[in-house]
This record gives sequence, structure tokens and C-alpha cells, in this order.
Amino acid sequence: MTPTKIERRTLIAGTIVFLAIIVVGLTVAIAAGQERAAILSTTVTPVATATVTVPSVIPTAMAAAAASPTVNASGTVSSKGSYALDFTLPTFGKAGCLVCHGDKNLVVAQGDLTVSYWIDEEAYKLSAHASITCAGCHVDYGYKAPHGQVGGPDWKAIAKQSCKNCHPQQYADWNLGAHAIRPVGVGQPDPKAASKPLCGDCHGSHFMPVLKDNPAGKAEVRAQAQQMCGRSGCHPDYWANYNDYYHGAAYKTGAADAPPCWTCHGTHNVMNSKDRTAPTNAENLGGTNSCGAIGCHQGAGPALASYVPMIHGRAAITEKNPIVMFFSGLFGGK
Ligand code: HEC
Ligand code: HEC
Ligand code: HEC
Ligand code: HEC
Ligand code: HEC
Repeated sequence: MTPTKIERRTLIAGTIVFLAIIVVGLTVAIAAGQERAAILSTTVTPVATATVTVPSVIPTAMAAAAASPTVNASGTVSSKGSYALDFTLPTFGKAGCLVCHGDKNLVVAQGDLTVSYWIDEEAYKLSAHASITCAGCHVDYGYKAPHGQVGGPDWKAIAKQSCKNCHPQQYADWNLGAHAIRPVGVGQPDPKAASKPLCGDCHGSHFMPVLKDNPAGKAEVRAQAQQMCGRSGCHPDYWANYNDYYHGAAYKTGAADAPPCWTCHGTHNVMNSKDRTAPTNAENLGGTNSCGAIGCHQGAGPALASYVPMIHGRAAITEKNPIVMFFSGLFGGK
């Protein structure tokens, strides 16, 4: 259709709809930000963490339930499902939750999508969290409540930061860095809260590998720079421009000794390079927690600093290079 055929009325109506969508979108985004900040400002009280007192003798009613759990494992659930959700778990701990979530057929219809709520017990057993209970992270899920009354819309954010209860050091480090969520004033939530990563946004949920004394687990995480740092909504631009010959290009081709983002930027206490304490700050590059680290460029002199702009700027720098420009002109490059 040519533009001349577009009627004025259609144009005006289109504009109104467009503006309405923007207004609604902004309102939702702001609300989401406030909501997240609100969650973060309240300390999550574990409802049922590892401290749950597990009776040494299972009460008769529960033993009976264990023998015949009130679960109708007939496959697909739509929203409320065919599972009896008004339950007292037949067993405490992981086993209780897995009465239902250990069923491969547990899927939930969410709009047009079918989402699996199956937790692969075998994979979970190999994870770093094999020894903790489900409610260790799902602190808002008790052993008695029907799901409908617990959780609520924030259940994901709650699980993604439950980690602080057991990993206080990493939480403290995260809290000092650029990813921390900080209210900007009294009653004024961090406007960037919704875009900052909670623990679970980087680490995932159920199948985190053991890192300690486990080279395979470390290698698995080491290879996740794009998912952790470079995915859309985070730093896709810096993933894309991390392309210099010695670091980025080598990392992307899988070189075992090439650094992922956090080798230079730090893992939890990530700071902007303008911050004087950042390992990437121009003043600190020679330091042993920066380029001068053991195994990297230990003892390298000031010449090192002149290379640094290449790390994220190779393309930009080579584009401006007169020799490169001459040859690319010669061979019909842009
Ligand atoms: C009786 C079966 C059953 C048991 C036992 C059970 N769940 Fe669920 N769970 C479900 C079903 C069905 C859904 C999807 C429907 C819903 O959310 O109401 C679900 C959804 C969830 C969700 C996603 C919530 C959402 O809003 O999408 C989480 C998290 C969860 N369960 C955790 C747990 C934990 C932790 C336990 C153990 C304390 C547990 N479940 C025990 C059946 C069960
Ligand atoms: C280390 C923390 C942690 C533990 C332990 C944990 N979960 Fe989760 N769980 C999460 C997080 C975080 C999410 C949200 C993932 C997302 O972003 O969708 C989640 C999501 C879920 C969901 C929604 C479907 C899905 O896979 O995203 C279910 C169901 C669930 N958990 C059940 C369980 C059960 C059952 C156990 C115990 C066997 C368990 N969880 C143990 C952190 C945990
Ligand atoms: C920006 C992404 C990111 C966020 C957010 C994040 N982590 Fe990590 N975390 C990592 C990476 C990457 C590693 C692996 C470091 C390595 O292999 O040397 C790691 C390692 C860990 C380890 C292993 C021990 C260690 O310190 O190396 C723990 C435990 C941990 N994180 C917990 C947490 C907790 C708790 C939070 C939330 C307060 C959190 N993480 C938030 C990226 C993140
Ligand atoms: C109820 C306590 C508890 C909660 C909640 C918890 N963890 Fe853990 N986590 C542990 C234990 C115990 C280990 C294994 C022992 C250890 O620390 O090395 C572990 C191990 C890990 C490891 C591997 C560390 C290594 O060096 O091998 C990572 C990474 C990790 N947790 C991240 C998280 C993240 C991210 C969350 C939240 C989504 C979380 N944990 C929630 C208790 C917990
Ligand atoms: C070899 C060390 C190194 C690695 C690896 C590295 N960076 Fe950087 N990065 C730097 C330095 C140094 C700066 C500051 C100077 C500059 O911008 O060139 C920087 C700047 C940045 C900035 C701008 C904010 C700031 O602190 O100045 C972002 C965002 C960033 N890097 C993200 C990433 C991501 C994402 C990855 C992984 C895909 C990554 N970096 C890998 C060294 C590194």
C-alpha cells in the first residue's frame, strides 16, 4: 500500500494507540522496578529452610499419605492442574516436593506456552545444592500450604536472592558492586533495579555445578560469559566488542586460558572502571588483581596500559587505522 492511500483517520488512530502502548509500558516498567526494590528491602524470612524440624517419627496421618500420596499424576495440568494442590506433603525435604515435581509430565499451560515444572532429580543430585532442601531457596513455599496461597507473583525474585541466607560473603560483595540494588533516597527505589542481576539471574536455579575442587564445574561456568554477562538486556554490546586477538577472540574460540569477563571485572563486586577501586581502573591495571595477576601478565610494565583500549575497542581502533583504511579502500571495503 502506498503512503498516499493511508487515510488521515487511520494515522491519528494509530498514533493514539501507539502513545497508549508507551504509557502503559512505562507504568508497568516503573511498577516492576518499585516492586523489586520493595522485595529487596525486606529481609526474606525463611518459612521452611534447613532449620525445619523434621519429626523423627512421621505422624501416622503423614505415613499413610506417604503410602498413597493425594496426587493424581495424570499428566498435563492447566493452570490449577489435576494435582491436588491442597496438600500436606507426605514427606519433608526434597522428596516431598519431588512427589509432584519429580514427575516428567508435570507441565503447566501459560497462555500459549507449555512450561515444564519437572525437576530432574538425577541432575539435581549432581548439582552444588544436592544437600539442601527445595525450600532452602523457595523460602516462601512451606510443607503444608497449597501453592495457590504461597509464593505469589514474586516467587522467582525471592528464590533468586534466597542465596544470601547461605552465602553471606558473596551477598556482601554483590552489595558493594555496581549490580547492587540501592534505593536512591527515602522511599525512592533504585530506578535501574529491574535491569540489575539477582544471584539467580547469573547462576540459574537447579543445576549449578560444584566449583570447589571440580575443574569440570569450573570449566562449565567459565564458558558461560555470553549467557551471564552478554545476553540481551545486559551487556550484549560488550560481548560483541570483546574481540581482541589475545583475550576476546581467543575466548570465543574456546581457548582454555583466555579470560571470561569476570577474570578482569571481578565476579560479585563488579565496579565501573571509572571507580578508583575497580581492577579495570587505569591506575590499577598493573596490580595483582588486574592485568598483573599471577598467570596473566605478572610484572608487566606501563606499556601494558597502552594495549588495554584494544580489549573492547579492536574494531573501532582498526577502523580508524590509516593503513587499514587504505587497504580496505583498495579492496573495495566500506
Ligand atoms: C501435590 C503436588 C505438588 C507438590 C507436593 C509440590 N508442588 Fe510445586 N507445583 C505443583 C503444581 C501443579 C504447580 C503448577 C501450578 C501452580 O503453580 O499452582 C507447582 C508449581 C510450583 C512452583 C512454581 C510456582 C508458580 O507460580 O509458577 C514452585 C516454585 C514450586 N511448585 C515449588 C514447590 C516446592 C518447593 C515444593 C515442596 C515444598 C512443592 N512445589 C511441592 C505441584 C506440587
Ligand atoms: C539454589 C536455589 C534453588 C533450589 C535449591 C531449588 N530451586 Fe526451584 N527455582 C529456583 C529459582 C531461582 C527459580 C526461578 C528460575 C527462573 O528464573 O525461571 C526456580 C524455579 C522453580 C520451578 C519453576 C520451573 C522452573 O524450573 O523454573 C519449580 C517447579 C521449582 N523451582 C521447584 C523446585 C524443587 C521441587 C526443588 C527441590 C528439588 C527446587 N526448586 C530447588 C531456585 C532453586
Ligand atoms: C553478574 C553475575 C553474577 C551475580 C549477579 C552473582 N554471581 Fe555468584 N558467581 C558468578 C560467577 C561468574 C562465579 C564463578 C567465579 C569463578 O568461577 O571463579 C560466581 C561464583 C559464586 C560462588 C562460588 C564461590 C565464589 O565466590 O567464587 C558462589 C557461592 C556464588 N557465586 C554465590 C552468589 C550469590 C549468593 C549471589 C547473589 C548475592 C551471586 N553469586 C551473584 C557470577 C555472579
Ligand atoms: C539453604 C542454603 C543455601 C541456599 C539458599 C543456596 N545455597 Fe548455594 N550452596 C549451599 C551449600 C551447602 C553449598 C555446597 C557447599 C559449599 O558452599 O561449597 C552451595 C554451593 C553453591 C555453589 C558452588 C560453590 C562451590 O565452590 O562449589 C554456588 C555457585 C552456589 N551455591 C550459588 C548459590 C546461588 C546462586 C543461590 C541462590 C539462587 C544459592 N547458592 C542458594 C547452600 C545454599
Ligand atoms: C582482559 C580483561 C577484560 C575482559 C576479559 C573483559 N573486560 Fe570489560 N573492560 C576491561 C577494561 C580494562 C575496561 C575499561 C577500559 C575500556 O573500556 O576499554 C572494560 C570496560 C567494560 C565495560 C564498560 C564499563 C566500565 O567498567 O568501564 C563493560 C560493560 C565491560 N567491560 C563488560 C565486559 C564484558 C561483558 C566482558 C565479557 C564478554 C568483558 N568486559 C571482558 C577489561 C576486560
